[in-house]
Amino acid sequence: MSNLEEVREGRVRLLVPRIGVPSKKSPVFYNPEMEFSRNISVACLSVFAKETVEVCDAMCATGAAGIRYRVEAGSEVWLNDRNPEAVRLAVKNLELNGIPVRKSGKLWKGPGVTVSNEDANVLLTSESFSVVDLDPFGSPANFLNAAAKSVFRKGLLCVTATDTSVSTHPLSALKKYGIPSLKKGHEKPEYYPELGLRIVLSSIILSCARYGKRFEPLLCFSKRHFFRFFGRISGAPSGILKKFGYVSHCFSCGNRFVGPESRCTCGSRTEITGPLYLGPTFDRDFAREVAGKLKEAGFRVESEFVELVSKEVDTPLFFSLHELSSRTGRKSVSMEKMLQALEERGFRCSKTHASPVGFKTDAGREEVLETFAAIGK
Ligand SMILES: C[S@@+](CC[C@H](N)C(=O)[O-])C[C@H]1O[C@@H](n2cnc3c(N)ncnc32)[C@H](O)[C@@H]1O
Ligand SMILES: [Zn+2]
Repeated sequence: MSNLEEVREGRVRLLVPRIGVPSKKSPVFYNPEMEFSRNISVACLSVFAKETVEVCDAMCATGAAGIRYRVEAGSEVWLNDRNPEAVRLAVKNLELNGIPVRKSGKLWKGPGVTVSNEDANVLLTSESFSVVDLDPFGSPANFLNAAAKSVFRKGLLCVTATDTSVSTHPLSALKKYGIPSLKKGHEKPEYYPELGLRIVLSSIILSCARYGKRFEPLLCFSKRHFFRFFGRISGAPSGILKKFGYVSHCFSCGNRFVGPESRCTCGSRTEITGPLYLGPTFDRDFAREVAGKLKEAGFRVESEFVELVSKEVDTPLFFSLHELSSRTGRKSVSMEKMLQALEERGFRCSKTHASPVGFKTDAGREEVLETFAAIGK
C-alpha cells in the first residue's frame, strides 16, 4: 500500500494510511483519536494479566492495539483482520517494531505473534484465547456470541461499540441488543448515555451467559462516539443475571424508577425498558489500579478519566443539572454545590464520567429536586 505515514503510539511505531478523516473507505482503518482507548486498553491488560496470556485482537486493522499489547504489556498476540490489506500492513508494522513474522500455511508466525486473515466469527468459533478484543466498525452485536465462546474462563473480554446512537434509537437498540432504549417523540432521558452503555453491556453479559460464562464488569465507559467494555470471565453466570431488572421513565415529570412501574407518582404512564443489567459497571480496585498504571506511563488525561470512573457512586442512572434546571425553571447551580448539598443531607454522590453536567447519587428524584431547589435560597 502506498501513501503511508509513520506515527508513534505508546512505545510502538506504526505505518498508517495518510488520510484526513478516518473512514471505513480507507484501505486500512486507523483512527488517531482512538489512541485514548488503546492507552486504557494496554493499561487494563497489564493490570489484568500478571502472567503471559494470549490476546486475540480479532479486528486488528493496522495492528495498533495488538502490537502495543505485545510490546507494552508483554502478551502473546494473535492479530486478525478480514481485510487482506490490513493484514499485510499489520505484518509490516510488526516488522517495524522488531517482531519478524514468516508465512506458515494460512498464518504468519513470529515470536509471541500469530497473524491471520479470517472472518472474526470463523476464527473465534475455532480458536480459544485468554483475552479477546473486539473492535469492529459500529456494532459488536454480530460478534458477541463467537467472542463469548472463544474466551477462556478466568480470561478477559474487551469490546468496543461505536454505535452509541442506540442510546437514543429504541428500535435500533432492540434490533441489535434485544433491549429498546427510551424515547418519546424527540425527548430522551438525561441519562441516555448510561442507558446505551447498559444496553450493550447487558447484551455482552447475556452472550457470555449462553456459554455458561459470567462477564463481570471491570471497567466500562462511554466517551464521545464510543463505548468500551472490559470484563473478567468466570463460570456460573447466575449471580450476574440476578442483577438484571427494568427501568421506567416518566416523560411527563422526568421521574425514573428502577423496576417495572407502569404509572408514575404524578399519575402519567411511564415508558419501560429491560431486562437490563443494573449492577456495577466497574470494579473500584481494578479501575484505581488502571488509573495508577496510566499515570505511571505518562497518560495523564486517560488516568484522570479512569480515576473519575473509579470514584463514581455505584447506582444506576445519573441525574443532570441541566435537566433539573430546565424542568424547574430555576438557574442551575455548580456541580460542587450540588454534591456538597447532597452530602450534607446524608446522601452518597459523585460526578459521572458519562456527562460533564451529570451526577450519581443514592438519593431519589424527589430528594434531588428538593436539594436542588434549596441551594441558593
Ligand atoms: C475499527 S477497525 C479496527 C481498528 C483497530 N482495532 C485499531 O485499534 O486501530 C475495524 C476492523 O474490523 C475489520 N473487520 C470488519 N468486519 C470483520 C470481520 N467480520 N472479521 C474480521 N475483521 C473484520 C475491518 O477490516 C477493520 O480493519
Ligand atoms: Zn411523572
